[in-house]
Amino acid sequence: MTVQTFIPNGAKAASENTVTQPTHTTDVSIKKLYIETQGCQMNEYDSHRMADLLGDSHGYILTSNPNEADILLMNTCSIREKAQEKVFSELGRWRKLKDKNPDLVIGVGGCVASQEGDNIQKRAPYVDMIFGPQTLHRLPQMLDQHNAQVEKPKKDKIKLVDISFPDIEKFDFLPEPRVEGFKAFVSIMEGCSKYCSFCVVPYTRGEEVSRPLDDVLAEIAGLAEKGVREISLLGQNVNGYRGETFEGGICTFPELLRLVAEIPGIGRLRYTTSHPLEFSDELIQCYEDLPQMVSHLHLPVQSGSNDVLQAMKRNHTIDVYIDKIAKLRKIRPDMHLSSDFIIGFPGETDENFAETLQFIKDLDFDHSYSFVYSKRPGTPASDLPDTTPEQVKKERLAQVQKVIKQSSIEKTDAMLGKIERVLIEKVSDQDPNVLIGTADNTRLVTFVGDATWVGRFAEIEITEIKTLNFVYGELLNLEPDVA
Ligand code: SAH
Ligand code: F3S
Repeated sequence: MTVQTFIPNGAKAASENTVTQPTHTTDVSIKKLYIETQGCQMNEYDSHRMADLLGDSHGYILTSNPNEADILLMNTCSIREKAQEKVFSELGRWRKLKDKNPDLVIGVGGCVASQEGDNIQKRAPYVDMIFGPQTLHRLPQMLDQHNAQVEKPKKDKIKLVDISFPDIEKFDFLPEPRVEGFKAFVSIMEGCSKYCSFCVVPYTRGEEVSRPLDDVLAEIAGLAEKGVREISLLGQNVNGYRGETFEGGICTFPELLRLVAEIPGIGRLRYTTSHPLEFSDELIQCYEDLPQMVSHLHLPVQSGSNDVLQAMKRNHTIDVYIDKIAKLRKIRPDMHLSSDFIIGFPGETDENFAETLQFIKDLDFDHSYSFVYSKRPGTPASDLPDTTPEQVKKERLAQVQKVIKQSSIEKTDAMLGKIERVLIEKVSDQDPNVLIGTADNTRLVTFVGDATWVGRFAEIEITEIKTLNFVYGELLNLEPDVA
């Protein structure tokens, strides 16, 4: 388990669990909350909101140690079978903590809760609260209900389960996000209506629902006032955003980007994830017009074979993806591209896989989240015949990862002598004269500078490559603060 300190933007589907960053205290009278987060950045975002909610409503503070917590919350992921199984093994460990401390409250949220609420009650009856991704804002009330019935005999207790999809009301009840540092995630939509044949998301998070435009803009303006300089817009398919405007119209994703770019203080814009089908010309045009947009794009394609794409119900061909990237690279030749790949989809032949490998080489990806296909109950692909041995799938995956890793190394090496725009994020722990920031392509950049520059953007010439994700440089120009 790791304590998350840095999430490369554009990154998601992290396979390890993370714990939302705790605030440390030694006061034993303060109630403590431990949150384990599995899965994607949407879950990371939701976990932060849970911590804010229970902090504001009940005074809980975060701890990174489950042994000293009064509440344990697990924010689960069901995207692949392995992630789902982890839930029950971890709950088994938490049960032992509850045996020692019967007052301990255990809650399970996220996509496994949404899909397997009944099963969790049966397999883990010691879980006190079960809530879905769209009902986490009701956690404080659930906790009150739990506390109100603690003394009651078991037979009189009602089960606290709420895994409904109450539209987008969640955001109306969440407290203002707390700001740590200069980067913030802002959720602009929930759910997904694409129904790719392999994916559980539309069933666990519901269909696409966009937050109203004014809510999104007000949240970002508030963050900018508190010092945030880089915004990552979050959603399963952000380019499907259709936010209601104050006048009752609809704002599209490219229109939203233009409005966000006008907010004083916002010096850098990222988003994740988007679907190739809705990667429109209007969106590509934003890369020409808005200097805040990073030259880094995470655009999941899943496979480089048309046959496989069709079976996945992705609703586009490889050529569509290739054309869109070509247009984008015409505007931004330095565009770093990353993608998700599913290897060993049912029916993927040697030829199909060879096409995927060639596609990966041709498109020159910098990074990927690639996994062997995992059969998910209730999805159409789970009924497809799948005769490829698991070992063959693993070997294919290893080949994909090797090619992309090599390309990533080459991309870092190619930074030598180039000028990168860097958001200066902190002073080095080791040397007060050394600053650390991130480049557009998410590499960490270290250079000599003054602590007062933290929070500003700078042009840095890269002078030395240290590791795949870490380079040294020298200051060329310090931008004035964008606020
Ligand atoms: N909105 C994103 C996908 C979100 S799900 C999109 O546009 O595609 C995150 C990733 O999990 C997917 O991109 C896919 O690569 C992976 N994934 C989803 N279902 C999977 C399954 N059944 N097996 C393996 N990987 C899966
Ligand atoms: Fe899943 Fe496809 Fe949506 S991968 S999240 S159904 S775009």
